[in-house]
Amino acid sequence: MLMATLYTLHIFAVLVWVGGMFFAHMVLRPTAASALEAPERLQLLSGVFTRFFIWVKISIVLLFLSGFWLIMLHGNFGKAGWHVHLMLLLAIVMTVIFGWIYAKPFKALKSAVAIQQWPVGGVAMAQIRQLVAINLVLGLITVVVGVSGRYLMM
Ligand code: HEM
Repeated sequence: MLMATLYTLHIFAVLVWVGGMFFAHMVLRPTAASALEAPERLQLLSGVFTRFFIWVKISIVLLFLSGFWLIMLHGNFGKAGWHVHLMLLLAIVMTVIFGWIYAKPFKALKSAVAIQQWPVGGVAMAQIRQLVAINLVLGLITVVVGVSGRYLMM
């Protein structure tokens, strides 16, 4: 029962973080870019990221908690397969990139929107877009590693 709950929480967190990035990057951003002028677009995206990033933080906590708990239930870290080590490494890189987005371009976007400096906000948004694209690719790779790793154990 505990194991099933932890796997479920782990996957909920993956869905929210990776699925949220997919939607933001592949659907929302291009639509906003074609339908809205800079002021409306940047206000919309700043609001979207403010809400989404709360869920990303919750997802990161859930991923690490459930992940380490699962490792303990399976034995210990030494017994974990290579796919778990790789998953942890990728998750750490993704978390650092998220922390950077949050602390730098996202803060810059919010303050640019607050003082209506649209060109500055546009530069910050471009950085967020690039970093989210990197994290989306890493997230999808991590899903492949997590799902298929145990079947590819050497
Ligand atoms: C963005 C980050 C992460 C993603 C996308 C991810 C994804 C996944 C996926 C898709 C599974 C397969 C679940 C299943 O087939 O039932 C999984 C399992 C697992 N994850 Fe993660 N995970 C992430 C972070 C972490 C972290 C940080 C840890 C460790 C602290 C971790 C530890 C584990 C363990 C131990 C399993 C079970 C492996 C097995 O049953 O062979 N994961 N993860």
